[in-house]
Amino acid sequence: DNGLHPAEHPWSHKGVLDSFDHASIRRGYQVYREVCAACHSLDRIAWRNLVGVSHAVDEVKEMAAEVEYEDGPNDQGEMFQRPGKLSDYMPKPYPNEEAARAGNAGALPPDLSLIVKARHGAADYVYSLLTGYIDPPAGVTVREGLNYNPYFPGGAIAMARVLFDGLVEYPDGTPATTSQMAKDVTTFLHWAAEPEHDERKKIGLQALIIFGSLLTLSLYTKRFKWTPLK
Ligand code: HEM
Repeated sequence: DNGLHPAEHPWSHKGVLDSFDHASIRRGYQVYREVCAACHSLDRIAWRNLVGVSHAVDEVKEMAAEVEYEDGPNDQGEMFQRPGKLSDYMPKPYPNEEAARAGNAGALPPDLSLIVKARHGAADYVYSLLTGYIDPPAGVTVREGLNYNPYFPGGAIAMARVLFDGLVEYPDGTPATTSQMAKDVTTFLHWAAEPEHDERKKIGLQALIIFGSLLTLSLYTKRFKWTPLK
């Protein structure tokens, strides 16, 4: 059972020349931080990666400084705590896999850095998973501690529904409906898995323009040079 095929959603960054919606990335970071980060790490993202993407540098410095990081050893050979810096990576919810499993009835919440790329269905899958919790259909029972979600392969997932209308409060005034938060956090996670996305499309366009002009120029030159030899 591979799970229900997710519907295709009209992501605003879907077109070949469309960039991410950065306001959505910013809201999605908020959802990740306030909801998902309780269980899921985001190992490949450092604070500095948010600068100029979702936040201004001073905002990110402040957010990083609110987290305590272990550092050291110092001159006395001791480890010490210090506030986070731009170069630190996102803090982990659990010190190791055993602790993560112990906190989740034996299941392991995967690192979310590459989840959009790692799962079949990509962003559509993550969105559908987050918004797809329903009661099991007649005749289906799920084991104690698991939850029914038709999009999850097998249908029984250790993660419960986490998004509910009004769960977070967006400073930009966007109503925090379940689907809005799912869209925003999925856009954020898509950016996390593909931070080069906007640049890639921009360079693609530039390459098209340059090679297009070169092609035009060479076709014209060829005709021009060969005309008298006909
Ligand atoms: C699994 C996303 C919040 C616990 C997953 C998966 C995704 C995901 C994409 C992978 C499903 C798969 O393997 O295909 C999110 C997002 C969250 C969130 C975006 C925030 C909006 C949470 C929270 C908890 C949690 C708060 C803990 C209370 C888990 C666990 C699994 C999981 C235990 C493993 C499920 C299994 O293998 O059965 N999550 N999650 N998640 N999540 Fe979350």
